[in-house]
Amino acid sequence: MKEDSIRISLSPGVVISPELHSQFIEHLGSCIYDGIWVGKDSDIPNIEGFRKDVLLALQKIAPPVVRWPGGCFADTYHWKDGVGENRPIIYNGNFGTYQTEDNSFGTDEFMRLCELIDAKPWLNINMLSGTVREAADWAEYCNREEPTALSDLRRKNGHDKPYQVRLWGIGNEVWAGGGNMTPEGYTDAYRRYASAMPQFVKMTPQGRESLPQTYILSGPDGNKPKERVRWTKDLFTALSRYRQPSIGAIDLHFYNWNITGSDDVDRFDEKDWYRVLNGALEIGDVIDEQYTLIQQGLSDFPESEVPWFPNPAPKCDLYIGEWGNWHGSAFAARPALWQQCSMRDALTSALTLDIFHQKADKVKLACCAQTVNVLNSLLLTDGDKTVLTPNYYIYQMYMVHRGGNVLTLENDSQPVADGLTGVMAFASRSGDVIHLNIVCPDYQEGHSVTVSFPEEVFCNGGETLCSEHPTDCNTFENPDKIHPTDNGSARLTENGWVITVPPASVSVFHFQLASHE
Ligand code: AHR
Repeated sequence: MKEDSIRISLSPGVVISPELHSQFIEHLGSCIYDGIWVGKDSDIPNIEGFRKDVLLALQKIAPPVVRWPGGCFADTYHWKDGVGENRPIIYNGNFGTYQTEDNSFGTDEFMRLCELIDAKPWLNINMLSGTVREAADWAEYCNREEPTALSDLRRKNGHDKPYQVRLWGIGNEVWAGGGNMTPEGYTDAYRRYASAMPQFVKMTPQGRESLPQTYILSGPDGNKPKERVRWTKDLFTALSRYRQPSIGAIDLHFYNWNITGSDDVDRFDEKDWYRVLNGALEIGDVIDEQYTLIQQGLSDFPESEVPWFPNPAPKCDLYIGEWGNWHGSAFAARPALWQQCSMRDALTSALTLDIFHQKADKVKLACCAQTVNVLNSLLLTDGDKTVLTPNYYIYQMYMVHRGGNVLTLENDSQPVADGLTGVMAFASRSGDVIHLNIVCPDYQEGHSVTVSFPEEVFCNGGETLCSEHPTDCNTFENPDKIHPTDNGSARLTENGWVITVPPASVSVFHFQLASHE
């Protein structure tokens, strides 16, 4: 057992946006159909057509935002195909899905899912084969209170109240499948879309009240180190020319690619373990780089020439609309992009979420790609069987950090490989309670960690996610092999609380300030 020590300061830092724990679902493979939606007439137990076991599991982790309908699927999606009766059957070739799509899961079903799991919707507009009018009409359908043809259509389809959708993605990966656009060409198109989106204003005795809406720019390919810098620089240069369109955020995508090794999701050795875990750390540098480029870009926006009509202060948040491990075998998988999830994926998810937490001043929203049956999944389904993957439990264990304040800490753990140390730690504070994550990437050995604070604290226990072997997964035959178990190792010594964690594990410990007990 190796020994480490961690010192945690108690001054509250930046607030962790709960939206860093958001999700992405797409009409791809079996994510929507079979994964989330089975229809009301299915033999698979369902609530209003949603798979019951998946719905209940999602309710437990309450994703703050869900992004839909894609991804690349959004580039071919015509929202009117997915509302009301008589929905057309289309063909879905997205990423090798290769099946017909009956549009039975459309806008009203997605909104109902969001209601049932208490998530905010992020709708991604079709900027490739759709039109500006189609995009504006979608917003009218969703958000218009006054009686119009489109709001009446929503009422006829069973939803009287406006959905109040605030997050609108304008294009998806427009540098690739979304149009192979240049930043200049995209900016021109973005200006039209953002300008055409309707406003939803109410006159109240207190004055005008507008529904705040966030238009989200297609950000760079986070996996292309040179192109991503050029993209963001050129995009802001183009945006800063002449008048500003409305901008709320920019959507960076970053996948931790594992396609060059000879390993597979559940078949790898120690070297592959460290290689993939280390790959997940790059996103920290990408966030720093992109945040800086965004601030530089915004500072170039011109002042208004007329003081009585000033330009609004430019602001643009950094979102990560897609992230996760992408293993080579996913390309050949049926259903498309179906991927198992081992302890290696759980640790990369934990490390990635901790990077987001740590950089909560720079990144405000992040969606795991994707929630069910695609890539870095939280849930896997097959017929009537459902498995909660180790990734699911990371989200569940990490919920305690939502809305908490980041704490600074010193960690003396020694390197085990590249940028990884024997234990990697993150802590947040919510009132009198401190939550400490200990990710142990050490493949071989467990660690004993002495945790000290500037004030007296009590330890309220913890949970650990681990398995006999790092390649282990939850399978349909053995769905409960990996789940969090109580970690009761904490004991108080004169140097602080000593806790122990097994190799290849993720733990969350909870402490309470004694002065506030
Ligand atoms: O998440 C799978 C795909 O990856 C999405 O459709 C696309 O946006 C990205 O390239």
